[in-house]
Amino acid sequence: MKVLVTGGLGQIGSHVVEMLLERGDEVVAIDNLATGRREHLAEHDKLRVVIDTIANKELVDQLVSNFRPDAIVHTAASYKDPDDWYNDTLTNCVGGANMVDAAKKFGVGRFVYFQTALCYGLHPLQQPIRLDHPRLPSSSSYSISKTTNEFYLELSGLDYVTFRLANVVGPRNVAGPLPIFYQRLKDGKQCFVTQARRDFVFVKDLARVVVKACDGVGHGAYHFSSGQDIAIQELYDAVVNAMDLPSKPHAEVKELGPDDVFSILLDPSRTFEDFGDIQFTPLQETVSAAIEYYKQHGTLGEYTHLRLQDKQ
Ligand SMILES: NC(=O)c1ccc[n+]([C@@H]2O[C@H](COP(=O)([O-])OP(=O)(O)OC[C@H]3O[C@@H](n4cnc5c(N)ncnc54)[C@H](O)[C@@H]3O)[C@@H](O)[C@H]2O)c1
Repeated sequence: MKVLVTGGLGQIGSHVVEMLLERGDEVVAIDNLATGRREHLAEHDKLRVVIDTIANKELVDQLVSNFRPDAIVHTAASYKDPDDWYNDTLTNCVGGANMVDAAKKFGVGRFVYFQTALCYGLHPLQQPIRLDHPRLPSSSSYSISKTTNEFYLELSGLDYVTFRLANVVGPRNVAGPLPIFYQRLKDGKQCFVTQARRDFVFVKDLARVVVKACDGVGHGAYHFSSGQDIAIQELYDAVVNAMDLPSKPHAEVKELGPDDVFSILLDPSRTFEDFGDIQFTPLQETVSAAIEYYKQHGTLGEYTHLRLQDKQ
């Protein structure tokens, strides 16, 4: 099989690429290194890595028309500065539309997308959130632009799967609470937690399901979720355990910020129906795998799509 992976040097993209290569597929990965790193993918004779942006329409058309992939796995996204609307729209709207348009023009059979659970708004109307919950993405540039890309996909008539995700973590995770806790603990700084709960999933558990989606399993929207949320405090405790620190520093508990959702718990029932039984890796194992990665590669800073003052 031939698969084009955007954001192939990022967390989710690189794990998907590795699994595709392992089973003998041919892969072209495109990444502009905004949050990805070249060292996330080793050289491989069935892999071509293009360092460029999906906002470049001519290049995207060229890549898709020359390579003729059976599937596109579109993980590239811009999110690292909540005030950088320009780059969010350039990558997530223009770049996203470029990918969808090229898939249509050159007859790509499958398109796999990754949507944020923030598309349901900061105060979801139900828990767990069902797939038919209205999309209310207006709280951030990230969720507005990611949802725009999902709408283009729906408009396209392509055979697609969109995985709506809460928190995907593990090695190569550069955003959200896990790298922040690691870095602050390493630097001897105070950590902060809120009473929020989140639905954390291991990146490799997701990547296995993405490969199935490339093969034709599933159509339309899915929640990739274990169906259970955990407290941010539990995540913090798992980081402290994994780092094997001489003392066990306490995190200070803070009020939820105005951009923060108390709980994100996605209803995974349709995913279990169509993709079968999914093995979810336990939290401590997931966190320990991420910490091992940070020990070797460091973190990239403290990216979140939340405003800086809300995450301190
Ligand atoms: N990780 C999560 O918890 C989570 C939750 C919800 C949705 N998602 C979605 O999943 C996808 C992958 O997330 P991830 O965790 O792997 O993030 P990531 O930052 O590790 O990967 C994104 C990759 O896209 C690349 N990229 C950004 N702009 C680009 C451009 N214009 N052209 C080419 N490449 C570009 C980055 O350099 C990076 O390698 C994203 O679409 C994201 O919106 C992730």
